[in-house]
Amino acid sequence: MKYQKTTRVVLIGTGFVGSSYAYACLNQGVVDEMVLIDRDTKKAEGDAMDLNHGIPYGSPMKIWAGSYKDCKDADLVVITAGANQGPGETRLDLIEKNTQIFKEIVEEVMANGFDGIFLIATNPVDVLSYATWKFSGLPPERVIGSGTILDTARFRYLLGEYFNVDARNVHAYIMGEHGDTELPLWSHADIGGQPILQLVNDEKHHAKMEDLDELFLKVRDAAYHIIERKGATYYGIALGLVRLTKAILRNENSILTVSALLEGQYEEENVYIGVPAIVNGNGIREVVELSLNEQEKKQFSYSANTLKEAAASIIK
Ligand code: 2OP
Repeated sequence: MKYQKTTRVVLIGTGFVGSSYAYACLNQGVVDEMVLIDRDTKKAEGDAMDLNHGIPYGSPMKIWAGSYKDCKDADLVVITAGANQGPGETRLDLIEKNTQIFKEIVEEVMANGFDGIFLIATNPVDVLSYATWKFSGLPPERVIGSGTILDTARFRYLLGEYFNVDARNVHAYIMGEHGDTELPLWSHADIGGQPILQLVNDEKHHAKMEDLDELFLKVRDAAYHIIERKGATYYGIALGLVRLTKAILRNENSILTVSALLEGQYEEENVYIGVPAIVNGNGIREVVELSLNEQEKKQFSYSANTLKEAAASIIK
């Protein structure tokens, strides 16, 4: 019998997001080997020890605190390293600090012969995905940002609560910047095949557009509300990263909202931004191009311009 190839993820950054991701991978059994790298090597070592002690009750996975040399045989390098938002700070406020950190990390990964897929989660995620694509020289389909995967999850969760339906039966996307200029795609939102806009003002569902507009604001501002309360967000994004890891390592061809390079789709180019895309073992197979209404087109173009300006200010 032939054994399947061993899958390896190198995780760079074992802060709250990174360690929650590693823990969720262990719980869900998605990867054979996980290498932890952190600027604070003791933290990475401690995390590896702690996670290893869960293996008898989790799933088989080899976990160790490693080095950039381990990137050579990695299928996926996940980057969660960098400064995170303080209360009141926007994601774009982090751009300078984190681009500098990324330059060093990505160059080091590439210098060690990496030839897999990058998955980026650090904020501002769209700009840092663009930076990773530039710094790595890899084809754009192999640099994926977590984009609006978390915003889409927040949206589906809140819509599920509002309509009292399992969030997994809610199909609805948040597109654009993972940040203040993102937008809800109401024109393509449905619950089990029923368009949400048709449920508004319908006698049976009593759904109101004002409520839905307010619901979107909760999605857009969720990180601010959580950071105000506990200083950081990590469980939601960690599970979003695990979902993406599965789509990649299991070659699932799943449609997920990620930050991808646009090359003419949605009338945009040279920008990494949140869009629905088919994700598989080669990375981004294709960007799914939905037809947007006039308002959505305008909002999307505003969001793309915001990101282009942010990227131009820092990446030459
Ligand atoms: C979040 O949306 C802060 O980007 C992070 O939770």
